[in-house]
Amino acid sequence: MRVGLIGYGYWGPNLARALNQTDGLDFVACCDVNPKNLRSAMRAYPQLNGFSSPAEMWDSVDAVVIATPICTHFHAAQAALRHGKHVLVEKPLAHSSVLAEELVHQAERSGLILMTGHTFIYSPPVVKIKELIDSGALGDIHYISLSRVNLGLYQKDVDVIWDLAVHDFSILLYWLEAMPVWGRSFGRACVQENKNDVAFIWLEYLSGIVAAIEVSWLSPQKLRRTSLIGSKRMIVYDDADPCEKVKLYDRGVVLTPPQSFGEFQLTYTMGDMVAPHVSTREPLLLEVEHFIECVRQGRQPHTNGAFGLQVVQTLELVTANSGQIRAVGRAEEGSIAA
Ligand SMILES: NC(=O)c1ccc[n+]([C@@H]2O[C@H](COP(=O)([O-])OP(=O)(O)OC[C@H]3O[C@@H](n4cnc5c(N)ncnc54)[C@H](O)[C@@H]3O)[C@@H](O)[C@H]2O)c1
Repeated sequence: MRVGLIGYGYWGPNLARALNQTDGLDFVACCDVNPKNLRSAMRAYPQLNGFSSPAEMWDSVDAVVIATPICTHFHAAQAALRHGKHVLVEKPLAHSSVLAEELVHQAERSGLILMTGHTFIYSPPVVKIKELIDSGALGDIHYISLSRVNLGLYQKDVDVIWDLAVHDFSILLYWLEAMPVWGRSFGRACVQENKNDVAFIWLEYLSGIVAAIEVSWLSPQKLRRTSLIGSKRMIVYDDADPCEKVKLYDRGVVLTPPQSFGEFQLTYTMGDMVAPHVSTREPLLLEVEHFIECVRQGRQPHTNGAFGLQVVQTLELVTANSGQIRAVGRAEEGSIAA
């Protein structure tokens, strides 16, 4: 399978490395509208054919990986699908759910694989937590809190929610297998006008689970910290921890039903913490391998177009201009909309 990369800016070189290291494909071409970036790609991978526009590349490839700015994803992916190419497009799938849905339909109609690059879904700690949730180890999940903050990188075309919270939305969708029925964000544009560099987001799910997300490009420390609080156990997932990224705590609080008027008792469980073994394989390599495998076997990827569309719908839910609650997905089944 001949694979080409479109976009060799900040993130493209990581994808190029992953493509170059993955068996079962020929990394044959790179395209970038910026001649300097294209030259860098050609220097790093002299075997590549270089193109300055995607239109010149179609005859040379069977599949493409798109790592261009978000507002260009739709047109690049649409053109690739029209030319019969399988597509792995970086997150988020498109800059609106209408366009994302169009891509999903186009891929379905043409029988091509459309995958969104939600890298965290291929990350072993995230997969381990999914296994723990599904095994019932946490009991009922009460709430999840997520922090994803650091200094930069400021994006040119989107705010911090579309850049960073998109990861958290994909992780929550994967873990909970549900769309939020309510969502809201509150942000501030501190450095650039009209572009939030910090945002706080709240989501509620039909099950009653609530999630709170903090994202920022304006923070002195890099934090990648998620807590999942269940009725039986709790998890702290720290993606910045080099050794023990996932910690499972046998801790909780149980309310003993009152035996007589006015009596109540809380029992605190203070059990052990275990850090389960988690593979150290690189998520991006696993993501690219999965794409190639799905193309070869005609299988739908975990993060297919429909998954990417749901993430875009969540982005729209929380960034709706009015600040009004706008439920998506299973909204009709109930929402706490005011
Ligand atoms: N999965 C992740 O963890 C992760 C991390 C960072 C960025 N990303 C995603 O990667 C994508 C690219 O982000 P970036 O930070 O590398 O952006 P960037 O601006 O640094 O690079 C984009 C590159 O695409 C080129 N380009 C623009 N339009 C083009 C077109 N029509 N045809 C060919 N080339 C074109 C630009 O010249 C540039 O070299 C974004 O979608 C972003 O969300 C994903």
